[in-house]
Amino acid sequence: RMGRSQVECRPDIDTFTPGLLALYESLKPSEVHKSKQKQLVDSLAKSVSKEWPNAQLHLYGSCANSFGTSHSDVDVCLEMEIGTASTVEVLLRLADILRADNFDNVEAITSARVPIVKMSDSGSGFSCDICINNLFAVANTKLLKDYAQIDQRLLQLAFLVKHWAKLRGVNETYRGTLSSYAYVLMCINFLQLREPKILPCLQAMEQTYTMNVDGTECAYFDEVHQLQYFGAENKEGIAELLWAFFHYWAFHHDYRRDVISVRTGSTISKQEKNWTTRVGSDRHLMCIEDPFETGHDLGRVVDRQTIRILREEFERAAAVLQYNDDPCVALFEPYDYEN
Ligand code: CTP
Ligand code: MG
Repeated sequence: RMGRSQVECRPDIDTFTPGLLALYESLKPSEVHKSKQKQLVDSLAKSVSKEWPNAQLHLYGSCANSFGTSHSDVDVCLEMEIGTASTVEVLLRLADILRADNFDNVEAITSARVPIVKMSDSGSGFSCDICINNLFAVANTKLLKDYAQIDQRLLQLAFLVKHWAKLRGVNETYRGTLSSYAYVLMCINFLQLREPKILPCLQAMEQTYTMNVDGTECAYFDEVHQLQYFGAENKEGIAELLWAFFHYWAFHHDYRRDVISVRTGSTISKQEKNWTTRVGSDRHLMCIEDPFETGHDLGRVVDRQTIRILREEFERAAAVLQYNDDPCVALFEPYDYEN
């Protein structure tokens, strides 16, 4: 490992940039897709307001943070006073209402860390997850969206990384690999650490936006139109960045010691967070701090076996980009579970 960590990027890496950018463009959702999504959200809002006229509907996740592809689902959060009712009771009621209004495949999933109602719309083909009063998700959705507006290389990198992770089978939290949200945070942190920097640390700047969620202040600089040229001194193209991203996670990240932290724009030590030993089911083998819920480690799902799989995939991706004649094909080759 040590020897390969000194490797420099191949000199002809930029020749792969046009191919990667074409792929990125093809992953972006179309206007038709967006308007179908909006129709679904509008009809959902109508159903909800009959029962809960004061409920506010927020979109979160990739349909609102600008990291969504044509395959992404729609994530909806309902903000409402629920009085003495439990979240689960409200979700069960919501499921009944949606069934009565002819939404398809409605299912309440009440045992998850964040309980939701799932449904899919057979007309538009979309699936949709609905949660109640999960305002941290609404806040981090805005944070990601704001980061995306600073430098276009973030969207390019994150779309390619998410696409790679889905095809390689390492975007499945129920199997011990990482969520899309975790991958986007890894991309942001990586660009905060480039030299010269491609992204700033918005939470370390003047607070122009604040939102209080359950007593936690979610605050940062959100006047991102002022930061349009922030990364201009760094001329790295997407091919080089993608290689460097995988190379970092394959060879440079200190898994034993470090936590990546978008909140601080840097890495911090596990020691500092008290994430040195296993607590309950949180193993803290690969540590990704949530920017607002700082006690949350997005890598907590990773275990001894899946950390090995992840690191092998990072190494494979770095090697493909370094040595392959046609890396854009090999990189995204679907992982075959059978063999
Ligand atoms: N989220 C969160 N904490 C997590 C996982 C997710 O707060 N541990 C919230 C984030 O707001 C995230 C949203 O839930 O944006 C959806 O998560 P996820 O499905 O991982 O990401 P998407 O961006 O929706 O990705 P995809 O395109 O794969 O649907
Ligand atoms: Mg989603």
